[in-house]
Amino acid sequence: MSAYLYDKKKGFSCNMVHSDINLPIEYLEEMRSIVPDYDGFLHSYELPPSKAFKVNERKIEDTKLLDHIGTRQKVPFAEHCYYLNYDEKWGNHAFHHAGLMYIQEPSAMAPINAYDLGDIQLALDMCAAPGGKTIQLASKVKYLVSNEINPSRAAVLKGNVERMGIKNTVITNHSPQELEKLGELFDLVLVDAPCSGEGMFRKDETAVKEWSVEHSIGCANRQYAILESAHKVLKRGGLLIYSTCTFSPRENEEIVKKFIDEHDYEFVMPSKTILSQTVCLSDEHMRRFYPHIAMGEGQFFAAMRKNCGNSEMLPKKQLKIARNKLVSEFLISAIGYDDVFCEHNGMFFLSALPFELPLDRIVSGGVRIGRLEGKIFKPDHCFFSAYGNKMFCYEPNSEELLKYLHGEELKGTYKGYGAITVLGAPLGGFKGCDGRYKNLYPKGLRI
Ligand SMILES: C[S@@+](CC[C@H](N)C(=O)[O-])C[C@H]1O[C@@H](n2cnc3c(N)ncnc32)[C@H](O)[C@@H]1O
Repeated sequence: MSAYLYDKKKGFSCNMVHSDINLPIEYLEEMRSIVPDYDGFLHSYELPPSKAFKVNERKIEDTKLLDHIGTRQKVPFAEHCYYLNYDEKWGNHAFHHAGLMYIQEPSAMAPINAYDLGDIQLALDMCAAPGGKTIQLASKVKYLVSNEINPSRAAVLKGNVERMGIKNTVITNHSPQELEKLGELFDLVLVDAPCSGEGMFRKDETAVKEWSVEHSIGCANRQYAILESAHKVLKRGGLLIYSTCTFSPRENEEIVKKFIDEHDYEFVMPSKTILSQTVCLSDEHMRRFYPHIAMGEGQFFAAMRKNCGNSEMLPKKQLKIARNKLVSEFLISAIGYDDVFCEHNGMFFLSALPFELPLDRIVSGGVRIGRLEGKIFKPDHCFFSAYGNKMFCYEPNSEELLKYLHGEELKGTYKGYGAITVLGAPLGGFKGCDGRYKNLYPKGLRI
């Protein structure tokens, strides 16, 4: 193909619609040997990456949001998900700030939507940041622990969970190995493993630059170690989902095959819709999502059920319930009822789980209500995002909305705490006093 130029040092380069990309020669050689319709695959590098978003059904109905952003083609295999055009920029829009949407590349939506999850009580997302799959998973299970090893990425994960107003998710910052002490606790474990990122090449130049066979071998070793940890925290009868955004069989089929050969698991078949969007290399249970076959960047996934028997369940630690008159009074005045709440380092929160996780680095235990400053209770942004719709709500016009996002005060007559809404969904908080609404939108989130 004329668009691909070969250079001994750089490998092949192709002129993409949006930028130039140099694809490593060893990568292309491997792909030539495994990809169906290799020319079609190469051609996909001349096209812009695919983009999609999930409507946050906690905050808004699909039709209401689509009325405002235009009708969209639905992602056929993912609930509440729709395609976007590559050049659409919603990341700084008020709809995004208010957590009405989460932008994600479409094939990354597949692993969580490929299986009938049934009645999952407690799930673990072991490698969770920035949170796309956590956001999908939190809607499908009763309780979720969302873990990220890297502290700064865990902070991004927390921001995304908070923006979406998710109430059932604890965020932790541990290595998979550190999580092993939890024992066989979870009904589902997702390992969306760190990988060589070949499926990111169209949208992430760094992934191309960092690619090497040695890097991929390193990833494969790490992936297997993560799966071993996942095995130790999964209940018997529980579901293990493994996914990557790379194409290398070394990090995909080979890892899964080795794991299933060495442990007592059975493959689970994905839904028919997913089968029609994906292909397999060696076993029909292990699915590959390619950019020239379906709309998406690339993803590999497989699900396995751990065979039954009795799990070694450690006793669950009871939640330590906190009591505080000011917090209770705030809850009653804000949402009309008091609730059971906990406290950690001066922060009061509504626990996402009905028991305490025996871990040291819990980044968020649930929805933060706020903290006491002297004798004054200061509510937290997280509370407005998750519970704002139960409070007094003020829907600003577009000029006021921009002012609010800039951190300015608004005018208004309500006295007390309330929520600023966008299309009826909570964006952030304010405190009404003397005809003014003091802006409580966090400084770090302002535009
Ligand atoms: C593919 S990304 C996860 C994407 C995420 N599931 C989502 O949907 O947004 C893999 C994550 O694994 C984390 N990670 C890196 N090394 C790790 C390790 N040794 N153990 C566990 N996680 C690791 C990375 O920081 C990264 O956030």
